[in-house]
Amino acid sequence: LFYAGIPAALLLASLGGWWMAGRAFRPVNRVLAGAQRLGAQRLGERLPVPDSDDELRRLALTLNRLLDEIERAFQSQQRFVADASHELKTPLTILRGEIEILRKKTPSPEESREFLRSASEELDRLTQTVENLLILARADAGRPLDRSRAVRLDEVAVQAVERLMPFARAAGVRCSVRVEDAAGEPLVGGDPDLLGSLVFNLLHNAIKHSAAGQTVEVAVTTDAGGSRVAVRDHGAGIRPENLPHLFERFSRARTPSPRGAEGTGLGLAISKWIAEAHDGRLEVESRPAEGSVFTATFPRLPIEESHPAAPARAADA
Ligand SMILES: Nc1ncnc2c1ncn2[C@@H]1O[C@H](COP(=O)(O)OP(=O)(O)OP(=O)(O)O)[C@@H](O)[C@H]1O
Ligand SMILES: [Mg+2]
Repeated sequence: LFYAGIPAALLLASLGGWWMAGRAFRPVNRVLAGAQRLGAQRLGERLPVPDSDDELRRLALTLNRLLDEIERAFQSQQRFVADASHELKTPLTILRGEIEILRKKTPSPEESREFLRSASEELDRLTQTVENLLILARADAGRPLDRSRAVRLDEVAVQAVERLMPFARAAGVRCSVRVEDAAGEPLVGGDPDLLGSLVFNLLHNAIKHSAAGQTVEVAVTTDAGGSRVAVRDHGAGIRPENLPHLFERFSRARTPSPRGAEGTGLGLAISKWIAEAHDGRLEVESRPAEGSVFTATFPRLPIEESHPAAPARAADA
C-alpha cells in the first residue's frame, strides 16, 4: 500500500502544483493578453491592473503611465502634421485661385503686377513655413547642438536690430539696444545662427505688435545667474488666456497685429526650443494695452570657454 501510495501522492502533488502555478500566473496572463491587444490603432487602451499589492501591479501601472505618454506624443504629432499641412495648403490654394483667374482672361499690366506681388508674398510665406518646419524637425530629432562656440549675446542683439531696421522704419517703430556687461561679457556657449534667430523672432514680433511712434527696447545683461536678452514692446500686449498657449506650434492669438501680415505661428515655438537647447529658458510677461517683455536667459559660460586658446574646461561657474 505504501509503494502504491507514492505515485498517487506524486500525481496529486503535480496536479496541485499545476493548479497553484495556474492561479499564480493568471494575473500575469491577463496583463500579457492586455499587452498583446495593444497596437498603434488602439493607443487609448490600457493594461488591466491587478488588485494585489505586488510587482505585477507596479509593472502594469508603470506600463500604463508609459502608454499615457506615448498616446499624448502621438496625438501631438498628428495635430502637428494636420496643422502643418493646413498651413502649407492655404498659400497653395490662394496661388492656384489666382492662376485660374489669369488663365481665363488677359490681364491688364496693373493686374499682372498685382498678381506677381501677391504670388511672391504667398511664396515667401510658403518658404518661411517650410524653413520653420525644418528647424522644428531638427528639434524633434533631438540631435544635440554644437555648443563649442562662445557667442556674444550683445553682438547677436545688435545684428538682429540691424536686420530688422528697414521693417521697423517702415512701421514707424524705434528700436534701442542697451548692454550691461559690468559683471562680465554676455557669453553663451552655442550656435550663433540659432541664437540670432531667437532674438530676430522676438524682435520681429515686438515690432509687428507695436504702433507707429512706439519704441521697442532690447536689453542684454549679465549677472551671477547668467546672461539674458529681453525684448520689450509697448504695443497691444497679450490677453492672459492666450499666454499659456503662446509657445505652442501654430498658436496664433486671434488678435491681428497692427502690421496686418500674418506669420507662420511657429516663431515662438522655435525660439523656446532654441533657448532650451542652450540650457536656457524663454519667458513672457504681458498685459493687454501695456505691452510685453520676452526674456531669454542662459546659464553663465565658464570663464575659460570665453578664450578659445584655453586648454581645459573648468568646473561650471
Ligand atoms: N510682442 C508681442 N505682442 C503681442 N502679441 C504677440 C507678441 N509676440 C507674439 N505674440 C502673439 O503670439 C503669437 C505667436 O507668435 P509667433 O512668433 O509664434 O508666431 P507669428 O509671429 O504669428 O508667426 P511667425 O513668427 O512664425 O512668423 C502671435 O501670432 C501673436 O498673436
Ligand atoms: Mg513671430
